Amino acid sequence: MCAMIEKTLSIIKPDAVAKGVIGQIVATFEGNGLKIAAMKMVYLSKREAEGFYAVHRERPFFGSLTDFMSSGPAVVMVLCGENAIARNRELMGATNPAEADDGTLRKRFASNIEQNAVHGSDAPETARTEIAYFFPELEIVNG
Ligand code: CMP
Repeated sequence: MCAMIEKTLSIIKPDAVAKGVIGQIVATFEGNGLKIAAMKMVYLSKREAEGFYAVHRERPFFGSLTDFMSSGPAVVMVLCGENAIARNRELMGATNPAEADDGTLRKRFASNIEQNAVHGSDAPETARTEIAYFFPELEIVNG
């Protein structure tokens, strides 16, 4: 199923989990050609959130973003499919929900530019690093 196909990391962030929309988000992925190759719920520590978002550590919103990401449970997933990275980003919509197209996950579920419901890897190299941050090879189903 997912062995030779593009993979990406998706996170359903704490705001979306608190809103009770995990199912609607997963259904959107499954209804749009993405398969779930791994999935688990995590409650990140501040340090784990800082590690995940290390590339943003110089940004003014880094402290607030990592507080938010460690404020409640999140769901992390490996999605696979043809062009999974781009397809997931299309389904998510723009980072700022005010700029996101109608029907996108962020338009439907995000509260603001920070509490924006979902995360998705932006390129193949980031996808590899981000997947490895949460999932050992053995937890990813390729069959
Ligand atoms: P994400 O796609 O997970 O990548 C980085 C995250 O930083 C982004 O979603 C938002 O949650 C957050 N973010 C990006 N820009 C801003 C901003 N201007 N203010 C606050 N948070 C931001």
